[in-house]
Amino acid sequence: MGELAAEKHVQYILSVEKRKDDLISVAMEHLRMNGAYWGLTTLDLLGKLETVDVDEVVSWVMECQHESGGYGGNIGHDPHILYTLSAVQILALFDKLNVLDVEKVTNYIAQLQNQDGSFSGDIWGEVDTRFSYIALCCLSILHRLDKINVEKAVSYIVSCKNLDGGFGSTPGGESHAGQIFCCVGALAITGSLHHIDKDLLGWWLCERQVKSGGLNGRPEKLPDVCYSWWVLSSLIMIDRVHWINKEKLVKFILDCQDTENGGISDRPDDAVDVYHTYFGVAGLSHLEYPGLKAIDPAYALPVDVVNRIFFAR
Ligand code: FPP
Ligand code: ZN
Repeated sequence: MGELAAEKHVQYILSVEKRKDDLISVAMEHLRMNGAYWGLTTLDLLGKLETVDVDEVVSWVMECQHESGGYGGNIGHDPHILYTLSAVQILALFDKLNVLDVEKVTNYIAQLQNQDGSFSGDIWGEVDTRFSYIALCCLSILHRLDKINVEKAVSYIVSCKNLDGGFGSTPGGESHAGQIFCCVGALAITGSLHHIDKDLLGWWLCERQVKSGGLNGRPEKLPDVCYSWWVLSSLIMIDRVHWINKEKLVKFILDCQDTENGGISDRPDDAVDVYHTYFGVAGLSHLEYPGLKAIDPAYALPVDVVNRIFFAR
């Protein structure tokens, strides 16, 4: 079995940052805040965050803030809760949460909560359990869960639980490993994991492993490296990670590397991208691959960063 091409992946992430105006980067311009979070967290897991100019990143992040308090995907773009979490996570990585106007960001998030406890992603109102997770994660990092109705937020998530033990994006929505990560993460952050039937959900999640060792997101779908993150994190949070074959999953992720130019793809021989590079490395961290920092399954940040947020105030 091959090894993790750690140094190549570092070079790949740094090169994507420099190639800001090629075609793919332009198409992804609105996603830059998410891309920066994926890339920077990967560098941190690989122990290479110090190669980045902190002041440059922090001032760019702060320029993406809208007067409403939310963050856009790039300078001058509309704010969305998706980019707001990435902005907060990036500042947390660099221990720069002190530059935030906490009142302003948390007001932005709080006004996105609806009467039924759910969250919209922005002023246009789309509702999704992804946004519930993001709101709870962000407010928890900022120690301001008191700004919302947590009880209603939890009962909305519980209303998205299905008979198979999984969760969907809205009540009645099909179970999907990405949404399950969001709902289990939200319940973990709020100390509400007792709402989960761990054996039932653990069974559904470990059935995501296919012959090649990779994990898919739903029955009958192809395996994809990013589900190493969504599924493993969920299994860890419900104490059932020993139900999958770790060696086979490590091999699948390593088989998705571009060992020449760096980067990890969704499945072997596909084109690499920063998203799958991050979730591949984060998945390997969950699998205790040597040389990687540990990552927290609920906050999606390195464990040392999470400890700094909650234990070193
Ligand atoms: C599937 O992605 C994944 C999800 C639906 C979960 C997304 C979760 C968030 C945006 C919350 C923030 C996450 C972190 C880690 C902080 P996809 O639609 O690309 O799936 P596909 O590849 O199967 O289409
Ligand atoms: Zn994927």
